[in-house]
Amino acid sequence: MCGIVGYLGVRPATPVLVEGLHRLEYRGYDSAGVAVVRDGDIVVTKTAGRVRDLRDKLADNPATVGIAHTRWATHGEPSDRNAHPHLDATGRVAVVHNGIIENAEQLRAQLTADGVVFVSETDTEVLAHLVAREDAATLEDAVRAALRGVEGTYGLVVLDRSRPGELVVARNGSPIVLGIGDGEMFIASDVAALVHHTQQVVFLDDGELATVTAEGFRTSTVEARRTSKTPTTVEHAADDYELGGHTDFMRKEMAEQPEAIARALRGRLDERFATAHLGGLGLDPMALRAVKRVKFLGCGSAYYAGQMGAALVEELARIPADAEPASEFRYRNPVVDPDALYVAVSQSGETIDTLAAVQELRRKGGRVIGAVNVVGSAIARECGSGVFLHAGPEVSVASTKALTNMTVSFAMLALLLGRVRDLSAAAGARIVTGLRALPGQVERVLADDAEIARIAKRYAHARHMFFLGRVSGWPVAREGAQKLKEISYIHAEAYQAAELKHGPLALVDADMPSVVIVPADDLVAKNIGTIEQVKARGGPVIVITNADLPDGLADEVIRVPRGEPELDPILLTIPLQLLAYHTASALGRDIDKPRNLAKSVTVE
Ligand code: F6R
Repeated sequence: MCGIVGYLGVRPATPVLVEGLHRLEYRGYDSAGVAVVRDGDIVVTKTAGRVRDLRDKLADNPATVGIAHTRWATHGEPSDRNAHPHLDATGRVAVVHNGIIENAEQLRAQLTADGVVFVSETDTEVLAHLVAREDAATLEDAVRAALRGVEGTYGLVVLDRSRPGELVVARNGSPIVLGIGDGEMFIASDVAALVHHTQQVVFLDDGELATVTAEGFRTSTVEARRTSKTPTTVEHAADDYELGGHTDFMRKEMAEQPEAIARALRGRLDERFATAHLGGLGLDPMALRAVKRVKFLGCGSAYYAGQMGAALVEELARIPADAEPASEFRYRNPVVDPDALYVAVSQSGETIDTLAAVQELRRKGGRVIGAVNVVGSAIARECGSGVFLHAGPEVSVASTKALTNMTVSFAMLALLLGRVRDLSAAAGARIVTGLRALPGQVERVLADDAEIARIAKRYAHARHMFFLGRVSGWPVAREGAQKLKEISYIHAEAYQAAELKHGPLALVDADMPSVVIVPADDLVAKNIGTIEQVKARGGPVIVITNADLPDGLADEVIRVPRGEPELDPILLTIPLQLLAYHTASALGRDIDKPRNLAKSVTVE
């Protein structure tokens, strides 16, 4: 979603800002803009379109301070007029903003009544007018005073042409990170925009402001209380955000899965006691034993990964577990169980709906841990404890390696919960061995790339597809349908296989392929029955399996290695990533940046 970049220092700001915007493109956006101070004026350049279009519009400019933005439209259509930065009426103050100002309409009406003429339809423009109206000693005080009347979420940067040596930033619900350079400072909404310049960063907390100069920064709260921040070193290098010879990030990230899984497992498996060590949980064996129930909360694919996690916990620890979309949670006045362990699942750690679910849980005294990829992200910090996924930076909008590492992490959590209960050492050892084998097995599935590409090409013309699975295959089917929809734009629906005959079977014909997930479990015969029902109605069938199936049962069979049955969903998901990828590729889609979608969904 929207991206922010700011710079103050010794170099011309414009190239630094544009390069930063390029690095945030993966988040999804529809327009972009830059503001720099030159000869005492703020010069704004904007465009509805790509960052490269913006770059073509920008003149050479020696200004050494500036702010920039990529916008994902919420208030008003994508257009030059609605693109950020936004100025106040006198052109003194420029603002870039991520998030949503919830009382924007009310503030707009008040400002309009006072004679302010708005030039855009955005909520952000309100902020520029509010800051400019404040008669304060410092820009920071003006921003603080303006924010007192503002409700909603923001990560913002304010530039004032009369104080070109500083920028003021503020955060409430939308990330802001400062990058510390040598005589220069960087600002961004995502470390991806900074790591080319510095790995020393400071994450602002909600309710914090900072005044940033080329020499450093000082932070305070909205209530004007000084805060002190210790810089952290980000692990990721600039190369992690490069394609490194791959055609796109989704392909790169799928290929990285064996290594990402190995990283997630490193130092966490204990052969001696046939269990897992997850030190970040902060739960001793007594506390683990006291857990009566586990609930996974996440959005989109993270929710489906949570479903796989719930199955693992029920299977290995024999305690009730389920998953729920985090986006619904806080709105249904949930009963929060003090004996439950809630797991907030998120790659980005910034998904607003998941963050809000965590806040609701904490407010009601629930015990919540995070399963998060991005260290320092809002959800990771709000939870305070949990399991980091260690998938490495994920750039493609379609999540692959992070999801795989979610399920791998849940397998370790389930193992740990099981081993403090009745899971035997022998069964624990079997899971440890199964987890250790995963990187090599995923490698083997990835090696089937050309065959999966052939199958994808054969069915790429389909306008609709079913994804069918039973029990452990059901979340796999959901994730497969999700991947196909989001990057190929083919309508895909996942059904529990037994539900097919209760209605959706009416849709099956020669133009409606079904992808059927068939793990080598007790339900193979039932799944064969489902496949036969589809075939009998002329529906093409693609099977993803590690079971022994009769010859000629399906039109296409994609095999994955047989491992420990509880871990089957992890391996069965990988061919579905490749299937979606090659279908999208056959259709010429922009794989890393599917239409209408954003990498981190920081608005409701
Ligand atoms: C699908 C996908 C989305 C995300 C969802 C949650 O490929 O990427 O469905 O899984 O938006 O995002 P995070 O995990 O960042 O909370």
